[in-house]
Parts: sequence; structure tokens; C-alpha cells
Amino acid sequence: MLSTQTKSLDVEQIRKDFPILQRKVHNKPLVYFDNAATSQKPKQVIDALNFYYNNYNANVHRSIHQLGEEATAAYEKAREKIAEFINAQYQEIIFTKNSTEGLNLIAYSLTSSLKPGDEIVISQLEHHSNFVPWQQMAKHLGLKLKFIKINEEAELDENSIRETITKNTKIVSVNHISNAIGTINPVEEITKIAHENGALMVVDGSQSAPHMPLDMKKINSDFYVFTGHKMLGPTGVGVVYGKKELLENMRPFLYGGEMINEVKFEDTTFNQLPWKFEAGTPNIAEGIGLGVAVDYLKKVGMKQIFERDREIVDYAMERMKNIDGITIYGPKERGSIISFNVHGVHAHDVSQILDSEGVAIRAGHHCCMPLMSVLGVTATARASFYLYNTEQEIDTFINAIHKVKKVFGV
Ligand code: ALA
Repeated sequence: MLSTQTKSLDVEQIRKDFPILQRKVHNKPLVYFDNAATSQKPKQVIDALNFYYNNYNANVHRSIHQLGEEATAAYEKAREKIAEFINAQYQEIIFTKNSTEGLNLIAYSLTSSLKPGDEIVISQLEHHSNFVPWQQMAKHLGLKLKFIKINEEAELDENSIRETITKNTKIVSVNHISNAIGTINPVEEITKIAHENGALMVVDGSQSAPHMPLDMKKINSDFYVFTGHKMLGPTGVGVVYGKKELLENMRPFLYGGEMINEVKFEDTTFNQLPWKFEAGTPNIAEGIGLGVAVDYLKKVGMKQIFERDREIVDYAMERMKNIDGITIYGPKERGSIISFNVHGVHAHDVSQILDSEGVAIRAGHHCCMPLMSVLGVTATARASFYLYNTEQEIDTFINAIHKVKKVFGV
């Protein structure tokens, strides 16, 4: 086992910030390997939520009183931190409820200017959130939806990328890291190909924003979407990054309070960016909490987190390789996600036995039913790691897989 010193992060120190990691599940220490579904929260984030409600709870952008001003300043400061975190401008950061809402915002707004026969390209690797909105828009507006295929290594096939994106393509939307099998997609190159063909590029960064340094200027996609709760932040807050000039020309997604400039009986003019896309009272505490989560991630270092992911995944893969009768899905180079099946045992049963050992994983289709059909399975078991996970926890996980095999006699 690696010692703390040889790790790229001081994991033991980091673990002290996460109160939930002290708890027991079925009388066993919790081993939390369901980070792709949602991450745990450090006390700094939990404290920020409490502090907001205990000290300056008020609505934002409305009330000219001390609490209102403090709440507005903290909420907008969080936006500033997020913009800096991904090298974007302040007006380019739109708060949403989550990635799903962000992708719907983009799908509704962008497709409203398309005409029947126009093409949208996604991939076989997409989460339902980056699949169903485009599929339904295509169905209602007579657009054509095309899919980039994966190759034998479960990576997006280079030929398929070049064949699928053509001059008829108006929008390309792919994830940066697959939530189901961990494939890291070459979004910079795909963006170039999309732009060469005159298409707009959307990236679902739900699994990448928590795990790697991001630079919007470098990736150069037109939109990039992620969610707070997978990156140490609270649930209920997500982000759409969009290039300013594009957002300025797009129709709002939701109408109502906050997003207006002036409302008359005849018509309405809309607010400036980014508020034009933020109708209604936002999730204020959650937005502030996400800003604190970003502070935390920055302090640890995104490069260091990405490197630590390699260590923990390599260690787990090495140990899993030596177990007979399991299939691991996805490429060799991957995000911190390992999807697998134990031969002869349903993924739900694997998950249940692991749970009895305190090990939390996800089992099922991972909101990727089309991908599961390409892989020829209905479900997989999925272990997904984050900065607070240890090699020792991997050992517990490996022992639990041996228990699954023993219980089922496989
Ligand atoms: N999209 C989340 C997952 O992959 C919920 O588990």
C-alpha cells in the first residue's frame, strides 16, 4: 500500500474536513465510492450554508437593506469565483439548478432557431441529460439526431467523429468524462471539428469539473455545463458557461421575475447577462456554498486532484485485474470511475453485498440506457472515487468483491 507521503495529496488531512466520513454503515466504516452520483461535502461548505441562514438570509438583487446587500454580494462573489475557476468572464456564468437544467436551457434556446432537417450530433456515451433533451427537440422540430460511435476501447471513435460531424451539423454536444464508464473525451479536438463545420459545441462537464483543471479559453467550446453537488458543493445549484456573444443573442429559457428589464402590458425587455437566464429567486445559499467548494478545490489544487485520481484508479485496477470472473468496462486511461460486472451476479446484488460491508457504490444503467445497450448489458456496478478516498478503502472494496463471489459461489 502507498504511504501518505508518496501520495500526491495529503488525503488523511483532507478526510478530517468531511464529517460524514466518520460514520459507520452496518457497523462498518463508511467507504464512499459513489462520488460520480454526488460527492460528500467538507465542513467549510456545510458551515457556509449554516452561516448564511443564521446571519444574512435575504433575497438577492431586490432588497435595499443590509441583509439583502450582504446576500447579494456573497452570491455574486461566488459567481466571480466560479468564473475564475474555469477562466471565463463573470457574465458568462449562469446559475442553474443542476446540469440537467443547464443542458435543457441550451437545447431549448439553441434549437429554437433551427429548421427541419438540421442536424445535431451527440455520442453513444451520453447521460440521459445530454441525450433526451436533444432527442425530444429533434422529434418535435423535425431535426436529425446523429451519434458518434465508441470503438473497442470504449473511446469515441476518431473516424466516427469525422464522419458524423458534417456541414449539416448545427450543434455538437458530448460529455467530457463519461459518468458510466469513465472515458475522457478529447473535447478540445471535437470542438475544433465542430467549428470547422460551422457547428456550435456544447460540453457536459458534470464529471470533469470536479476532477480536472478547466480552461474555457483553451477548450474553446461555446457552452460548458456542470453541477455543484458533484464537486463538494450543495445540491440545487449548477452552472452553464456560455460565450458572451452567443448568450446575448439567445432567447431566455425561463421567463418571470429577476430576468426582466422592463415589463409593459405589450411586451418585456430582458435583463443583462447573466441574470437574463436566471428567472425567479435562485438557490442563494447553495450558490454561496458552491463558491466555498470552489475555494476548497482550488486550495487542494485541480492538477493534484487529477493526479491523485490516477493513483487511486491505477491501484484499484491493478487489484481488480487479479480477480477472476469480473469484466471491467471502459478504456485504460480513464477518469476516477470503474464500471464492472461480476460474472453470474446482478449488479444490484453486488451493490447490496458491498453495502453490507460499508462500501457505497452505484449499480444500474447510470442514466445511460443507450450506452448499456451498446455494451450489451442492462446494468453495471460502478465505483467512483474522489480526493478523500484511500488505498485502504480500495482494499476493503476488493475484499467485499471476494465476498460477493463467495456468497454467489462464482
Ligand atoms: N449522473 C449521476 C450518476 O452518474 C447521478 O450517478
